[in-house]
Amino acid sequence: MNNTVETFLEAKKTGKKLTMLTAYDYAMAKLFNDAGVNSILIGDSLGMVFMGHKNTLAVTIDDIIYHTKAVLNGAPNALIMADMPFMSYQSSTYDAVVNAGRLVKEGGAHCVKLEGGFQVVEHISKIVDASIPVCAHIGLTPQSVNAMGGFKVQGKSYEAAEKIVQEAIAVEQAGAFAVVLECVPAKLAELISQKISIPTIGIGAGAGCDGQVLVYQDMLGMLTDFVPKFVKKYADLATTINGAVGSFIEEVEAGTFPEEKHSFKIDDEIIEKLRANV
Ligand code: KIV
Repeated sequence: MNNTVETFLEAKKTGKKLTMLTAYDYAMAKLFNDAGVNSILIGDSLGMVFMGHKNTLAVTIDDIIYHTKAVLNGAPNALIMADMPFMSYQSSTYDAVVNAGRLVKEGGAHCVKLEGGFQVVEHISKIVDASIPVCAHIGLTPQSVNAMGGFKVQGKSYEAAEKIVQEAIAVEQAGAFAVVLECVPAKLAELISQKISIPTIGIGAGAGCDGQVLVYQDMLGMLTDFVPKFVKKYADLATTINGAVGSFIEEVEAGTFPEEKHSFKIDDEIIEKLRANV
């Protein structure tokens, strides 16, 4: 494996930017791994972009384990990070350790990610004590969508910004090896990145972070219903896939697919014999 937690900590020291993409299946994981991404996140975003739900709350620990196994098979070089879904850790530190353990033991994850600041520092510390590396996630924490009143940029007032800085320091002190900063102002993310000695991975947090993560359906232009402001579309797969599927339908209906080269042969004699006997 080329990428480990050490790679992340080393990158922070040398200033090399880190890359992370989400994936939920073997084929995509293989493509991203072979392209050289540092880490693949089996995000609970799968509740939205894979299942089509309005938020991530319905995702279970068994869902993440299932998808982590598939991703692991396709990505031998990337650091495999499994997300802890809603209510797999909020209830107690005991649940947090047990469920982090399941992601590693049953899913094969190399590390786990969980959302929250001060309220999860004890969880982080105990999971790390169990030799499981933890990535924290602060700023916009989608599992708190109901408490936050929607998916909104966080940390715009002095008090809110100060709280996020203090949370970044707290999760580092609790033992996290990295922290995702989601939907916070770019200058705040830059300040946090300068203040802490673990890498910050930004999503909607500007260029001053130590790395960037995106949800792959967004960055490959696969979803046409909603694309967040912070996403750059590196491809337009919706158009490509639509065209390819349209051609398939046209050719099947016209009888031009499959051609002879797509078919298997049998001796004519056998067919004649079958014709006569059955
Ligand atoms: O679930 C997810 O995909 C995430 C990223 C948005 C960081 O947490």
